[in-house]
Amino acid sequence: MACDFESTLLKKYIIDADGRQCSVLPVAFMVVGIESWASTANLKLIHSQNTLCSLDMSSALQTPLAPSTPRRTVALRQPTVDDGGELWRMATESQTLDVNTSYAYLLWCRDFGTTSLMAEIDGEPAGFVIGYVRPENPETLMIWQVAVDSSHRGQGLARTLLDGLVDRVPGVTRMETTITDDNRASIALFTSFAKRRDASIQRDDLFGDHHFPDNHDAERLYTIAPLS
Ligand SMILES: CC(C)(COP(=O)(O)OP(=O)(O)OC[C@H]1O[C@@H](n2cnc3c(N)ncnc32)[C@H](O)[C@@H]1OP(=O)(O)O)[C@@H](O)C(=O)NCCC(=O)NCCS
Repeated sequence: MACDFESTLLKKYIIDADGRQCSVLPVAFMVVGIESWASTANLKLIHSQNTLCSLDMSSALQTPLAPSTPRRTVALRQPTVDDGGELWRMATESQTLDVNTSYAYLLWCRDFGTTSLMAEIDGEPAGFVIGYVRPENPETLMIWQVAVDSSHRGQGLARTLLDGLVDRVPGVTRMETTITDDNRASIALFTSFAKRRDASIQRDDLFGDHHFPDNHDAERLYTIAPLS
C-alpha cells in the first residue's frame, strides 16, 4: 500500500492507505525531518518522478479518524507549455502579481520550465513558482513570481513550492527575488524560507519608482544566501 503526499504539507494531511485512515506525527516530522520521522514511525519513503515521495503505509500505526476528514493529494511538477494558461490564470486571479501576457507564461514554461514548479491539489492547479538562473551568475536562482490560489493559502503551499524548486535546481547557492514594501505575505514567505535554511537575508534597493514608466511601486531586492 502506498499513498502520495507532499512532504512539507504532510502535517496538514491525513494519509489514507488501503481504505483505512492514519494520523501522522506532525510534531516529530517538523522537528527531525521527513526521513528520520518516517524511520521513527516505521514508514518507508518511496521517491518517485511525479511526487516528492510516497509512503509505504504497511507498518504504520493507524488511528481511526472522523469520516469527514478531507483527503487531498498534493503533487509538484515542472510546468509545460500546456500549463502556461493556468499560470497566467493564477497570476491574474492573485490580484497582487504583475500580470504578464498569456504568451509570456507559455514562453516561460517552454524555456524556463526546469527552474519553475507548479503544484496541483487533487489534480487541479493550485500554485506555481517561476524563476530562472541568472545568466551572468549561474549560482543565483532568481524567483520572479510565486502564487497560490486563494482557496489554498495559509497551508504551506508556497513554502513547499520554494523548497521544492531550490532542491531541484542544481548548483545554486543564492536566491534572489524582488518584493514591493506593501507585500507582507511575500516578505513573510521569503523571510521564513531564509530562516528555515539558516541563511542570511539582505535587502537592497533595485528598481526605484523612477525606473518604472507607470505607477509601479519600487521593487526591493532580497538576497538569501547561502543556500544549502
Ligand atoms: C504570497 C503567497 C504566495 C503565500 O502563499 P501561501 O501558500 O499562503 O504561503 P504559506 O502558507 O506557504 O506561508 C509561508 C510563510 O509565509 C507566511 N505568510 C503567508 N501569507 C502571509 C500573510 N498574508 N501574512 C503574513 N504571513 C504570511 C506564513 O505564515 C508562513 O510562515 P512560516 O513558514 O513561518 O509558517 C500567497 O499569499 C499569494 O499567492 N499571494 C499573491 C501573489 C503574491 O503576492 N506573490 C508574491 C510576490 S511574487
